[in-house]
Amino acid sequence: MNVLHVIANPRPAETSASKKLAFEFFAALTEKNPDVVVNNVDLYQNKPPYVSAEALNYFWGPVANPAYIPSKAEEAAANFSNNNAQALMDADVLVLTMPVWLNTMPAILKAWFDQVLVPGKMFTFGAEGLLPTHHLRTVVLLVSSDQVYKEGDVRDGLTPALRAIFAYIGVDDLQIAWADGQDSSRHFDSEQRREMAVEAAREIAEDLADLA
Ligand SMILES: Cc1cc2nc3c(=O)[nH]c(=O)nc-3n(C[C@H](O)[C@H](O)[C@H](O)COP(=O)(O)O)c2cc1C
Repeated sequence: MNVLHVIANPRPAETSASKKLAFEFFAALTEKNPDVVVNNVDLYQNKPPYVSAEALNYFWGPVANPAYIPSKAEEAAANFSNNNAQALMDADVLVLTMPVWLNTMPAILKAWFDQVLVPGKMFTFGAEGLLPTHHLRTVVLLVSSDQVYKEGDVRDGLTPALRAIFAYIGVDDLQIAWADGQDSSRHFDSEQRREMAVEAAREIAEDLADLA
């Protein structure tokens, strides 16, 4: 089983609740299945650029016109995509580690999606519409937030956005370990909440290790 771990959090591991979830998740996963191959990608070490007009031409030009030939500038604009999409195409499982920022995902993660979820890589786009060409089965979210978002909370702009993004490429298995209530000045039980999320992360990892 190939696992791609994408880290969208600039904070150091010692002070990050979501990175603690990631540490525990991968400890449980590799303990139960030492054959799992994990590829760690820290987006703050290799920042995705925003998609430019030239990159859009490169991604979607062949969809509109099969005879499209990119210019040098268009090719250069697609460098990040061409160098980084393969890691996702190789993955059976994608693990996303992130905090909640402004009720949704950090912008750097959305920028990465815009670069790697493009035609000719994760899917083809033709007369029948979008056809997935990847083998990604499961997405695991390891999330941390100060607030507590109840089920169906209208302020939750994270899980609906991620469900919609992965539905676009035909993946609907999203599993979530969420350390919420991490603002200890407002939540007396922030530590217990973190421990419960660690437990949830370990359980998800153990279930996945069994599937591998
Ligand atoms: C720029 C910024 C925006 C934030 N926005 C939210 C938010 O909308 N909702 C929330 O619950 N927490 C918010 N937080 C708090 C973080 O999600 C929270 O501290 C989280 O535990 C950080 O994760 P980490 O410990 O893994 O870095 C925000 C923090 C920052 C720095």
